[in-house]
Amino acid sequence: MSLPKRVVLVGPMGAGKSTIGRLLAKELGYRFLDSDRVIEERCGANIPWIFDVEGEGGFRQRETAMLDEMTAETDVVLATGGGAVMRQENHPLLRKNAVVVYLKTSIEQQVERTRKDRNRPLLQNDDPEGVLRQLFAIRDPLYTQLADIVMYTDRKSPRLVVRQLVNRISPKTPRHRRQRRKEGRQNVQGIERTQS
Ligand code: S3P
Repeated sequence: MSLPKRVVLVGPMGAGKSTIGRLLAKELGYRFLDSDRVIEERCGANIPWIFDVEGEGGFRQRETAMLDEMTAETDVVLATGGGAVMRQENHPLLRKNAVVVYLKTSIEQQVERTRKDRNRPLLQNDDPEGVLRQLFAIRDPLYTQLADIVMYTDRKSPRLVVRQLVNRISPKTPRHRRQRRKEGRQNVQGIERTQS
């Protein structure tokens, strides 16, 4: 199997899309793009500000425009915002020449990973867990429907998730084989231990 032009990560807030995406891009020799971060850079403002001033609708418009632009890039790993699947018009953009990976995560993990975060406007209320549950009920079928690969991330280190993903996406790339050999040597020397 040859490498896809793009790997697109979808999944809820707190699924680890950014952390895993960055590591995966390194592993594949791809660039990493994070849709939320690029929106913030372009706008010169953070996501809470955009939600405040333009509303969620304004943010979603920016998000669609950004996905349109980013999905023209090749050799990239693209981390999308948790709500990117909510607009039907985004679906063909996300799928275009890409392997779509759903990072599936329990509500408990989502709560844990987003607890201290102030940059997610949808969770700044009295019941963030309730919101995450509601969003999951609506979005899980969409993530699943779009995904080529569903990867569970609970109780796994980001490195382990990435290793499993590389195996699924392209087990036979020369870069991957080299990396595998290197990891094997390092394990023997005891410099680095990789989880299994
Ligand atoms: C959102 C998820 C966020 C960000 C925005 C809205 C959502 O991205 O796009 O706050 O609707 O789930 P992350 O999934 O990267 O946190």
